[in-house]
Parts: sequence; structure tokens; C-alpha cells
Amino acid sequence: MNILIGVSGGIAAYKIADLVRLFIKEGHQVKTILTENAKYFVTPVTLETLSKNKCHTELFSSTRDVEHVELGKWADIMIIAPATANIIGKIANGICDDLLSTVVLALDKPCYIFPAMNTNMLTHPSVNDNIAKLRDWGYIVYDPAEGELACGDTGKGRLPDVDLIYQMVMAETERAEIFSSLSGKNVLITAGSTKSYIDPVRYIENGSSGLMGAELARQAWLRGAKVTLICNKEVIEKFQWAKYYTDTTVLVETTEDVYNNVRGLFDAADIYISAGALCDFKNEPQLEKIKKDNKDITIKLKPSVDVFSELSRSKKKQLMIGFALETSDLERNAKEKLNSKGMDLIVANSVEAIDSNSSSVVIIDSKGIRKYVKESEKRIVADEILKEVEKLLAGQEAAKAKTSQEAH
Ligand SMILES: Cc1cc2nc3c(=O)[nH]c(=O)nc-3n(C[C@H](O)[C@H](O)[C@H](O)COP(=O)(O)O)c2cc1C
Repeated sequence: MNILIGVSGGIAAYKIADLVRLFIKEGHQVKTILTENAKYFVTPVTLETLSKNKCHTELFSSTRDVEHVELGKWADIMIIAPATANIIGKIANGICDDLLSTVVLALDKPCYIFPAMNTNMLTHPSVNDNIAKLRDWGYIVYDPAEGELACGDTGKGRLPDVDLIYQMVMAETERAEIFSSLSGKNVLITAGSTKSYIDPVRYIENGSSGLMGAELARQAWLRGAKVTLICNKEVIEKFQWAKYYTDTTVLVETTEDVYNNVRGLFDAADIYISAGALCDFKNEPQLEKIKKDNKDITIKLKPSVDVFSELSRSKKKQLMIGFALETSDLERNAKEKLNSKGMDLIVANSVEAIDSNSSSVVIIDSKGIRKYVKESEKRIVADEILKEVEKLLAGQEAAKAKTSQEAH
């Protein structure tokens, strides 16, 4: 791709040298534009050397080209990173007083904007309104990351790591070009574990990183779906990229939290994927911390709410996909679970999948085995699962069309 990167005068501008390197390493062509103020943070020479292209800084340059139009024509996509409050405000208000702002307004290609600034600037109503305006107009404006800011404060406003910027931009272009099979569909996904508290500080919990659910969110989003991810905060902390692939993230802690949230969202969902390893048991937690000198402790557990079965009872149009993790008789146990819980599809895997980047799964529906996916990265496994979901959806839609034809 021909990638045009606009850099405005935020402290994070120095990171753009690495971003340019990354795009070049991956075989893309890069041209850069620096605002006057961005030159304080990164030099044109650095960007020229890394991009092997001229770094553009002047609206009125000495060549005869109408640079602000030519650069836009050359680009397949444009990225603005970091985007200062100032450049965001200029774009939102049609101000074209330098090369970068003029190029953006003359551009008719996808433009990805990465705001980065101090938290107080970011939350200022004018910046908020300007970002909302840009999103309404079709610009893709990413939420900044959270963490330590250059000014020493901690909060939201950091430029995401360049690896993440690279991934996001690539995913966004892939999404625009390739997938649309789930466009307009609401996909509700649970990921990761839930806790059951024994006392105010101790809890039991299933082993689960949440990676599978996060990868499913990514694959659903790539196919054009509107994704709601329900997970604990550790999932989002560990896989920060996940929030960029979801329209809504709901943070939960216990199985009851999951139930209370999905119950309200289920009616609007077209597809429900239960990839969360919800704690099946709970106990009445002690209000006081159990003392260490208590030699013999008995914890009495009772079943938690069975989220899948409860939702299944109010199922209408939804495709419902569940997971089974078994220590023996994987396929037989998974089939039983599929039937008893009213699942459309079940993904069976074994204990090795826990906390691992890869897994091997068997995908089963009411007619039997649909697919074996051999040990692969969870990103690939998620893609294979979503391919089966696409097929089920196509079958469901064909059946619906047939029924309505017969009714006529
Ligand atoms: C040291 C320093 C760091 C700055 N960092 C940021 C920043 O991260 N984000 C931001 O929006 N503005 C930041 N500013 C303010 C911008 O540089 C200022 O608003 C400027 O007018 C932006 O110009 P430009 O958008 O044309 O590049 C910073 C200013 C200074 C002096």
C-alpha cells in the first residue's frame, strides 16, 4: 500500500520513526507530512531516511505540483499520528492553514486518526465534540491508550504502541476489503474466567486467559459485525488490542455479573458465543477474611446460574455457540452438552488449551462433527470457528427465505 502519514506536534511524534520503519519493513511505500510544530519532536531528515521519500512540510513548496492534492492521490490510506487537539479541531472545522490540514480536507481515501494528548485535553468538551464530528463524517478515530503520559500524569491519552497502530490499520484495511459476511449482525461474546469469592480476598476461578474470546471478537469484527465483549478486566489488560475490535466492552467479575449483563443484551444479538470459562460453582462468601490459623476449612459450593441454559430458553433468532473443555471423552461429552443446552454449535477442546496461545479443537453441531482444527494459533482457530458460523448463518437465512417464499 501507499501510506501517507501525517504527524502533528505532540510529544509522541518521535514514535512515528518506528512506525515508518515497520511499514517499510512490511513492504509498504510511505510518505510523510510534518506540521511546523511536529518538527520540534521529530526531524524531516529522520523520516526521509527511514521512508526513503521526501518528508513534506510546506503548503507552498517550490515545485509546480499541487502537493496537497497529489499526495492524496498517491495515497491508498492516510494515517494521522499523533493527532493533536489542534489538528483534530482544524479538520472538524474546515481550517486548512498548513499542508497537513489541507491534504486531509482534499483527501478522498480512508483516514485513520490516532489522537494523543494529556487527559485533560482529551476530555475537554471541544476535543470530545470534534472527535465525535470526525467519527460521524466517517474518519476512523481510535481511542488513545491509557498509562503514563509524557507530562508525568497517568491516564488516557497515550499514543498506542506502534505495533498496535500497525495491526489496527492493517486489520481495518483488511476488514474494508475482504469481509462483510457478518455486516449488520450483533455478536455477543463472553471471554475469560469469572471469580467466586470465598471471603473478601480469596476466590476460586477457572484457568482461562480470555485469548480465545478476544480472537473471536477480532474475527467477528473483521467480518463486519458489531461486537460486544463481556470479560473480566484482566482480559483487556492482557490483550489491549481486543478493545479495538469491539464496539462495546462490558467488564464483569462473577458468573452472576455475566448473566445480568448478557440477559439484557441477548434479545438484540444475532450470534451469541460463549467462550468464557465461567465459574460453575459459588459459595456464600464469608464477610470477614478467613483466619490463617483455621486448620480445617470446608468450603461448600453450590451451582452458579447456568448462563447458557438460561439464555437458551429465550432463544429466538440467535445462533448460539458454546465451548466444552473436557478431561475425557471429549467428543461424546461435547455432543451431550450441545444437545442438553440447545447449542447450534459446540467447540470442544482439552485442558492444554488453557492459557496457551494455541489449541486444537473439534467443531460439532447437532448432525455431528463439522471440522477438526489441528493445533494452531488461537487466531486461526477463531477464524475456522467463524467460518462455520458463517455457514450456519447462511443456512438459517436460506431457510428463512424459503419459508417466506412459501408463505407468499
Ligand atoms: C512539549 C510539548 C508537548 C506537547 N504535546 C502535545 C500532545 O501530546 N498532544 C497535543 O494535542 N498537543 C501537544 N502539545 C501542544 C501542541 O504542540 C500545540 O497545540 C500545537 O499548536 C500543535 O500544532 P500542530 O497540530 O499544528 O502540530 C505539546 C506542546 C509541547 C510544547
